[in-house]
Amino acid sequence: RRKQAEVGSLAGCRVLVTAGPTHEPLDPVRYLANRSSGQQGFAIASALADAGANVLLVSGPVSLSPPAGVKYLVCETAREMYALVMESGQFDVAVCTAAVADWRPAHEAGQKIKKIGEADVAPPLTLVPNPDILAELSTKSAGRPKLVIGFAAETENVIDHAKAKRERKGCDWIVANDVSPHTGVMGGQDNQVVLITSDNVEQWPRMSKADVAKQIVERITVWISEER
Ligand code: CTP
Ligand code: CA
Repeated sequence: RRKQAEVGSLAGCRVLVTAGPTHEPLDPVRYLANRSSGQQGFAIASALADAGANVLLVSGPVSLSPPAGVKYLVCETAREMYALVMESGQFDVAVCTAAVADWRPAHEAGQKIKKIGEADVAPPLTLVPNPDILAELSTKSAGRPKLVIGFAAETENVIDHAKAKRERKGCDWIVANDVSPHTGVMGGQDNQVVLITSDNVEQWPRMSKADVAKQIVERITVWISEER
């Protein structure tokens, strides 16, 4: 029914992909992070490049090599990722897969925080909010990407939370997944997602992250061809 994405069908299309976790430093040797491996975002960047798109992949720290044919920028913190994205000009499509840390330690100690001398007293950890890249892109007054796709990592009430997230962030589509430890999604090879658009909720079967990427790129291609 739905036409297949043709090779080169995203030719000339500028696409941003964010991926991976961010690391939020506490001191020179410690950081707050999450279990994101970057695999889903890298697979999407790769599939977009295969479809002929002009892809910028902005990633936090991961142990993956960038896909061929993709412009690649690496960063560590949410603020760095935000700055790289905002400095990179305009995009036709943005796919925000990064597991950006929502908060960072309020103070980054200049030297390693020492245990000695503070017997049995743990240092307090105060957090402050990070900028939200997806929300910022979605609500840009000038130069908003025509299609902004967010991801929603949930551990309960996946569809309800993701629908609310789509509205709150102002993005067009949300790809929601259950990242509870028993699913093996975070860090694993497979993913099971729900695609939420303004008028549809589609449950996709469990498949490899590479296949999820291909399906998402096919949907982007169809959307772009209808837009043109
Ligand atoms: N995101 C982002 N910048 C942030 C936080 C999130 O760009 N500072 C993006 C993610 O890349 C993802 C989407 O927002 O595409 C949703 O991220 P998620 O963590 O699931 O949602 P939050 O709104 O942060 O809500 P919560 O963590 O409370 O579920
Ligand atoms: Ca979050």
